[in-house]
Amino acid sequence: MPSYVITGASRGIGWGFVQYLSEDPSNTVIGLVRNAPPTIERVKSELPDRNNIHILQADLNDNPAIKKAAAATASITGGSLDYLIGNAAYLALFDQFEAPGELLNRSSHEEFTKEFHNFMDTNVLAQIYLYEAFLPLLLEGKTKKVLSISSGMGDLEINRDYDFDHAIFYSSSKAALNMVNVKFGAQYKKDGVLFLSMCPGMVDTGSFSNLGPKEGAKLQEIIGKFQQYSPNFKGGYEPVEAVKKMLSTLDKLSIENGDQGKYLSHLGTKRWLP
Ligand SMILES: NC(=O)c1ccc[n+]([C@@H]2O[C@H](COP(=O)([O-])OP(=O)(O)OC[C@H]3O[C@@H](n4cnc5c(N)ncnc54)[C@H](OP(=O)(O)O)[C@@H]3O)[C@@H](O)[C@H]2O)c1
Repeated sequence: MPSYVITGASRGIGWGFVQYLSEDPSNTVIGLVRNAPPTIERVKSELPDRNNIHILQADLNDNPAIKKAAAATASITGGSLDYLIGNAAYLALFDQFEAPGELLNRSSHEEFTKEFHNFMDTNVLAQIYLYEAFLPLLLEGKTKKVLSISSGMGDLEINRDYDFDHAIFYSSSKAALNMVNVKFGAQYKKDGVLFLSMCPGMVDTGSFSNLGPKEGAKLQEIIGKFQQYSPNFKGGYEPVEAVKKMLSTLDKLSIENGDQGKYLSHLGTKRWLP
C-alpha cells in the first residue's frame, strides 16, 4: 500500500498527481494545500468515491503547519511514508518576462528584495523544512523516494546556450533546490532515501493565460528558443501526462543504480523538452 505526500495539490501538476495516483485504490494519496476546503470540494465533485485521498492544510512557509501535516500523515499511514513529492512552488510572474536589468529598473530595491525572498523562502528554504518534517516518516517507508519538482530553468547550460535572460529569481531558486537535493542525497544515501530533482517539461496549467502584449511577446521569444532547442516541441503537456512521464522515470531510478541526487528531466535525461 504505497503512500504519497504531494505538496501544492490544489491545482496544476500537483492536482495531476492526486488525480493519477488515486486511480489505484491501493495507493494512499495525501495532498497538502494552503487552503483545504476548495480542494476537499474539488475531490468530492471531480473524484467522488476515492477514499484513498486525504487533503491536509499546510502552507509551506508555515513550519508548525508542516510539522502538523507530517503528524497527521503519520496517523493516516501508521508512521511511514513511501514517496514525498515536493511540487508546490512560489511562481509569481514578477521576474518571468524581464531581464535582470529591466527588473532592477522598474522596481525598488525593497520590492526586488522582497520578491527574491519570496522565491527563495518557498522554493528552497521551505523545501528543506519539508524534508526535516517528513524524513522520520520516509525512513520508516519501504520505497523512500523524494521527488523534488525542479525546472529546466535551473540548468546553467540551457540558460547560457540560449541566452535566457528572464526569470532570474525562479531559475536561481530551482538551481539552489537542485543543490539542496544533492546535499540531502549525500547524507541520506546510507539510509536508502533517494532524492531527485526532476523537471516536468512544459506543462499547461493556465498560468500564462492573461498576459499583456509585452509579456506575450517575451513568451513568444522564449517559445521560439524552445523550438530551436527542440524542433519537435509542440507545446505543453496536460498535467496528468507530465505526471505519468515523471513517475515512469522515477520508477527506474534508484540509489543502487547511482541515481542519488540527480537532476533530470521527465524523460530521465538532460533533455528538458522532448
Ligand atoms: N507548468 C510548467 O510548465 C512547469 C515547468 C517546469 C517546472 N514546473 C514546476 O512544477 C511545479 C508545479 O507547478 P505548476 O505549473 O503546477 O504550478 P501552479 O499550477 O501555479 O500550482 C502551484 C501550486 O503550488 C502551491 N503553492 C504555492 N505557494 C505555496 C505555499 N507557500 N505553500 C503551499 N503551497 C503553495 C499552489 O497552491 P495555491 O492553490 O494555494 O496557490 C499550487 O497548488 C512547480 O515546482 C514548478 O516550478 C512547472
